Amino acid sequence: MKFFIDTANLKDIKEANDLGILDGVTTNPSLMVKEGITGANNITAHYVKICELVNGDVSAEVIATDLAGMIAEGEKLAALHPQIVVKIPMIKEGIKAIKYFSDKGIKTNCTLVFSAGQALLAAKAGATYVSPFIGRLDDISTDGMALIDEIRLIYNNYGYKTQILAASVRHVMHIINCAKIGADVITGPLSAIEGLLKHPLTDIGLATFLSDYQKGNS
Ligand code: G3P
Repeated sequence: MKFFIDTANLKDIKEANDLGILDGVTTNPSLMVKEGITGANNITAHYVKICELVNGDVSAEVIATDLAGMIAEGEKLAALHPQIVVKIPMIKEGIKAIKYFSDKGIKTNCTLVFSAGQALLAAKAGATYVSPFIGRLDDISTDGMALIDEIRLIYNNYGYKTQILAASVRHVMHIINCAKIGADVITGPLSAIEGLLKHPLTDIGLATFLSDYQKGNS
């Protein structure tokens, strides 16, 4: 399973990358604004900085919602760096844009996916990644993980190559359950990724080993 970090924060990206387990980065307009990155030039420069920090795919989201606009914007984003994946919303014109980029060999990430039907369309259009938002489904009392299950089944049935990029991952159990189901990628904040490290018995065991060592070697 690939691990992406879902942030535009360079410090967090570096921290996850330094762990040696990072496979890519996802961002969105809200995450950019959260880091104070505004204005087209600053945003594109930030994407390049992220690409230079990590090896792996970096999703850069289009703002346009019409086909011509998404194509123009996506082409500019894709030209920024070979690691850029054009992130396109799950709307009718978005599906056409994904097909356009897929035919040109440009990687895409279909975002804001909340149903199996949407994921099926994204795969038919040739999306490289599909991003079901599991946390946001959980937020409205709908089982986000059940959606990952459905998409996995459908993609397996037909051998679709589109990778399931579980997004809006908020915590460790989201990651573990995605791994059990067979999501290809998870993207989440640094806290969720680092949460995998933690177990109280590890801490207690290590403290005991170190104190026994001190007793025996002092
Ligand atoms: O990857 C999608 C993500 O950025 C949304 O996460 O936590 O805002 O639902 P969240």
